[in-house]
Amino acid sequence: MSGRSYVHGYTAREAERLSDQAETLAGLLHGDTRYPAGSRVLEAGCGTGAQTVILARNCPEARITSVDISEASLGEAKMRVQDAGIENVTFETGDIFDLRYEPGSFDHIFLCFVLEHLEEPRRALERLRPLLREGGTITVIEGDHGSAYFHPDSAHARRTIGCLVDLQREMGGNALIGRELYPLVTGAGYRDVHVSPRMVYADGSRPDLIRGFTRLTFTAMVEGVGDNAVSREDWERGIADLYRAAGPDGVFCYTFFKATGRK
Ligand SMILES: C[S@@+](CC[C@H](N)C(=O)[O-])C[C@H]1O[C@@H](n2cnc3c(N)ncnc32)[C@H](O)[C@@H]1O
Repeated sequence: MSGRSYVHGYTAREAERLSDQAETLAGLLHGDTRYPAGSRVLEAGCGTGAQTVILARNCPEARITSVDISEASLGEAKMRVQDAGIENVTFETGDIFDLRYEPGSFDHIFLCFVLEHLEEPRRALERLRPLLREGGTITVIEGDHGSAYFHPDSAHARRTIGCLVDLQREMGGNALIGRELYPLVTGAGYRDVHVSPRMVYADGSRPDLIRGFTRLTFTAMVEGVGDNAVSREDWERGIADLYRAAGPDGVFCYTFFKATGRK
């Protein structure tokens, strides 16, 4: 994937969406990731640093190296980390498929929402494996847009989500990758692979989740990609129906998948 072909783009709004997503989901996705003092952690595909700040806060004594292929995103990530007063992160420009670290340089590798954008996700995991020391771990977090269901149900909303899935596939990615994590990570040569599904459930009694996830994370993501393969009118109705599922009587469910494995 080149910078240009990233389905969500590199706009300020997308950076804000990734930040909203990360903060809203911090407990659900990262609560059980703690890297010990002195451990060397590689965050591959850190983007604008939305997960980096959470990782660094949760693991204040780990030494985190965060890499991304996009210089612009790294610039934002640096500012975000600096603003948060975090000092245990080093940023480097790099391509996951061609990182220049010595074998065994890291105790842990972490990737979040990266594989879904790659044409060869398994090869990416294979390329990262030598960078781990023997016994080191990998953690991979991905979503799966096929896991979205909601009330009121709407064929238009489902089709609108399908537009994003189709577009991402056309660009070489896979928005349904969450369900594939076990075979992917195992197939790339890691052992002791364990996948845990993490469901977000938002209803009227959880206004923060409705705002932070249903509106600002999921619907903003689908809306941000724009209409594709359906008429503008049908697409707008789909978006309106997604916002309806974020109303006081709406309900929204979505499942993330978190995989861990060992070298
Ligand atoms: C959806 S963003 C996720 C960023 C961050 N992990 C987060 O969750 O906020 C995907 C990131 O992967 C980066 N990326 C894609 N292909 C890459 C590659 N081959 N090497 C390094 N980074 C890559 C993109 O530049 C983008 O910043």
